[in-house]
Amino acid sequence: MSVQVVILAAGQGKRMHSKLPKVLHTLAGKSLLERVIDTAEKISTLQPIVIYGHQGSVLQQALSHRAVKWAHQSEQLGTGHAVLQAMPAINQEDHVLILCGDVPLIGVDTLQRFMQSMPANAIGMMTATLDNPFGYGRVKRDTANRVMGVIEEKDATVDEKRIREINTGIYFVPSALLQQWLPTLNNQNAQQEYYLTEILLRALESNIMIHTSQPTDNNEVMGVNDRMQLAHLERAYQLKTAEQFMQNGVTLRDPARFDVRGDVTIGKDVIIDVNVILEGKVVIEDDCVIGPNTTIRDATIGQGVKVYANSVIEGAVIGKQCVIGPFARIRPDTVLADKVHIGNFVEIKKSSLGVGSKANHLTYLGDSEIGSGVNVGAGTITCNYDGVNKHKTIIENDAFIGSCTQLVAPVTVGEGATIGAGSTITHDAPAHKLTLSRVPQQTISEWKRPKKKEA
Ligand code: UD1
Ligand code: CA
Repeated sequence: MSVQVVILAAGQGKRMHSKLPKVLHTLAGKSLLERVIDTAEKISTLQPIVIYGHQGSVLQQALSHRAVKWAHQSEQLGTGHAVLQAMPAINQEDHVLILCGDVPLIGVDTLQRFMQSMPANAIGMMTATLDNPFGYGRVKRDTANRVMGVIEEKDATVDEKRIREINTGIYFVPSALLQQWLPTLNNQNAQQEYYLTEILLRALESNIMIHTSQPTDNNEVMGVNDRMQLAHLERAYQLKTAEQFMQNGVTLRDPARFDVRGDVTIGKDVIIDVNVILEGKVVIEDDCVIGPNTTIRDATIGQGVKVYANSVIEGAVIGKQCVIGPFARIRPDTVLADKVHIGNFVEIKKSSLGVGSKANHLTYLGDSEIGSGVNVGAGTITCNYDGVNKHKTIIENDAFIGSCTQLVAPVTVGEGATIGAGSTITHDAPAHKLTLSRVPQQTISEWKRPKKKEA
């Protein structure tokens, strides 16, 4: 027996008031549906089947990199009708795990526990007990606590609405039983939909037990119907992630102002100030200090680095004990060796800097290869772009670039060379020499300041 995951995602998501299909909205940087697909992949080697309806091509395009099977539900006639659309693609011997594309935080452990605890000759339904069960289908039990069915909010009596145990919409059912039961559902209810929950009645008729299991954390089974619920789950996810980092030796000045949107590894004794956003694949090694309002995306930050406030680092490798910012911008394909200092209002793109080099103020370094021990003065600019092509600037070890220098690429500054402040360097500057290009200073002695004309 294998587990075939079916993900329901045909609903319109009207309450999002969005052009985008609901399940493509993101939580912590990843679409709701992709989160559920990730979970499905950890449960089963069979490709999950996604039931789609609205905007199918948008959905399929957004997920073209994922290995899933698609089943189309042309009209949204209810959850039972939705699952029926997947049946032709499911083996008779398999068990079907039904998940919802808009319930993004369902955990692998919770699902494993749910499936493994199900006895033979049973079907399973995950339930949860909520303080506010409004809107959900309520689980009806008899005096012996056996499940007797689920009643939808819209079909429920006042008494039934008081029930706090709800149907999460997650089920585990042998395929053969679904094959048998789904074609028999009817739509005689308030919403005139083919309710999947009607299979519970079929189970009772056939003396098949209804097994229930509850999640460790109710947020795991919460659905996203509107943007408030999306924000609620985003914060729940972020807080949990923050707590895991703190448990592993990371200091967060405020776990409520810390956002992870990707695959992030943080070492021990790292201190992270408020409003830091980590996106994509990020590695922060031990002993780093990350200042407030900093964004780091797809980057590795070496041990003992200090990143001061308001810096943006993307697509870069930062060596050990570097000092970055405040207000630094490090762009893709930048590699900094150890102990490099990058100061305020410095932008670096597609450049490498050797050990101990410094660019501390107001500088742009693009398409450049900079050796070790180089000092780049304030206001230095690599003129890397001639309007058509990009060219390279090479600055060899121990060179000193005076302030306000323009290096018109392609150009090389030799080892140990000094460039006089204010130079425009258009030819290679030889090693160990002073090179400068500067209009001689002059003083006009007879010059007088203009005076304001009398009216
Ligand atoms: C359904 C359950 C309810 C449960 C709730 C949990 C039924 C009859 N009711 O309620 O007991 O408490 O989920 O969230 O099953 N979908 C389709 N095609 C359809 C209809 C729905 O793919 O024709 C998908 C939706 O995209 C969604 C999921 O099924 O992912 C649940 O549908 P939704 O309408 O949100 O749930 P309810 O009907 O409110
Ligand atoms: Ca509905």
